[in-house]
Amino acid sequence: MPPAPQRTIPDKFDDAPRALLAWYDRHRRVLAWRAAPGRIPNPYIVWLSEIMLQQTSVAAVTPYFEAFVARWPDVGSLAAAPLDDVLHAWQGLGYYARARNLHRCARLVTDKYAGVFPADEAELRALPGIGAYTSAAISAIAFGRRAVVVDGNVERVMARLNAIEEPLPGAKPSLRKYADRLTPAARPGDYAQAVMDLGATVCTPRRPSCEVCPWSAGCLARARGIEAELPRRTPKAARPIRRGVVFLATDAKGAVLLRRRAERGLLGGMMELPSTEWRAEPWPIGEAVRFAPVEAAWRELPGGVRHTFTHFHLELSVLAWDAGAARSVPCEGLWCPPDRLSEYALPSLMKKVLRHARILQDTGSACSAG
Ligand code: ADE
Repeated sequence: MPPAPQRTIPDKFDDAPRALLAWYDRHRRVLAWRAAPGRIPNPYIVWLSEIMLQQTSVAAVTPYFEAFVARWPDVGSLAAAPLDDVLHAWQGLGYYARARNLHRCARLVTDKYAGVFPADEAELRALPGIGAYTSAAISAIAFGRRAVVVDGNVERVMARLNAIEEPLPGAKPSLRKYADRLTPAARPGDYAQAVMDLGATVCTPRRPSCEVCPWSAGCLARARGIEAELPRRTPKAARPIRRGVVFLATDAKGAVLLRRRAERGLLGGMMELPSTEWRAEPWPIGEAVRFAPVEAAWRELPGGVRHTFTHFHLELSVLAWDAGAARSVPCEGLWCPPDRLSEYALPSLMKKVLRHARILQDTGSACSAG
């Protein structure tokens, strides 16, 4: 392939930000957290929605956002809520570290900043759960400060506009430079949301609608007919498999023995069935039972449970024990009656195990997706 011409969008397409803002004024999405045109955005609303939208779609976030705002209308009320209530309300949204950081952040903003979010990008970034993207988004959208807001949608749009052939993730720094060059000083919050809306509704991953795109005339990928191929991606390494054994102890009334996971790490602070560690090698039963919460006659349930996390697949087998009236058995954790399971922040993985063991049914509020 001949070398790409050294043409950049700002040279050829000077008024790109203005063209996009004009498009946004007509075609912006109506989103539950988005301030109406001319209205001053509420930083709490912007922050809450941006945390929820990390790795999660608009459609999935909307009902959670509405429930959170109805229950905790400002940062002070969220800070005053018990962490368990927040984790429970977050159930089904996934990536639970976000909920824990959300709560920590609410407390910090309430205690250190008297309930007023800082406007400065660097100060925002120092708060729990707020990284480069989110600090820029809050600073621009909530406070009207110029900030370079780059998420996956923005990367795709920049890769196409500038026909960047280098695959992601290696191309990230250069895509950020292109985004920086285009970001205007005027209306930076609207501009950031406009690029993201463009990526979500027009410059879509598979079949972009270039005919309605306000940037199509200056788009180098479209000029070369490669828009649907960009951005290129370096193939991901296959996810490794980890294996574990969970222990399902039930008493005569059907109560299940649960324990709380460590605060830090995957699914931090959530409830779980006691388990061995998760490792690459299979667990011989004789070895696994050394990790059981109680020495008892554990029996293996047929089949197993598979679950995929971001970085690995997990295969669990289940050892069950009918504790009878043996609640007095000394073991760590709590015995949760079956009709109260929905009151705990149980990860999707554990709900899968409980469905596998027929403790939870396949549908119903206690088994909401997540
Ligand atoms: N995705 C994440 N945050 C967004 C926002 N504020 N507008 C549009 N898309 C988004």
